[in-house]
Amino acid sequence: PAADRYEAENGACQGTIDSNHTGYSGTGFCNTTNATGSSMEWTGVQGFSGDVTLTFRYANGTTTTRTATLTVNGAAAGTLSFAPTASWDTWADATATVPLNAGTNTIRLTSADAGGTPNLDYLEV
Ligand code: GCU
Repeated sequence: PAADRYEAENGACQGTIDSNHTGYSGTGFCNTTNATGSSMEWTGVQGFSGDVTLTFRYANGTTTTRTATLTVNGAAAGTLSFAPTASWDTWADATATVPLNAGTNTIRLTSADAGGTPNLDYLEV
């Protein structure tokens, strides 16, 4: 089936929804506060039985990989690495395969770095 896309601007962005870089989908992207622990959360994410791949669209215009912890319905679900994408206008995918509930799910990325998460455009399931 076609992926369901959840735009960051429709979720809970602990920071600002910005549009000052190009190449994003929808009306903007989440620029989390540059601090450890800043987060982006999507609720109402439709799941399926079995493992599901989450695709996070992001931009990291720094020269350093940023990392974030992933939680699924409040439970720790690993760490994601977001390698540099060459500029803040260049977007890439980071993926994680996790078990979801068959109904709705809450997905959260929490920054593990002082720089915050990368800029986040959307989550696709
Ligand atoms: C720059 C960039 C922002 C980004 C930030 C960061 O300020 O313009 O979009 O979020 O760096 O380091 O996270």
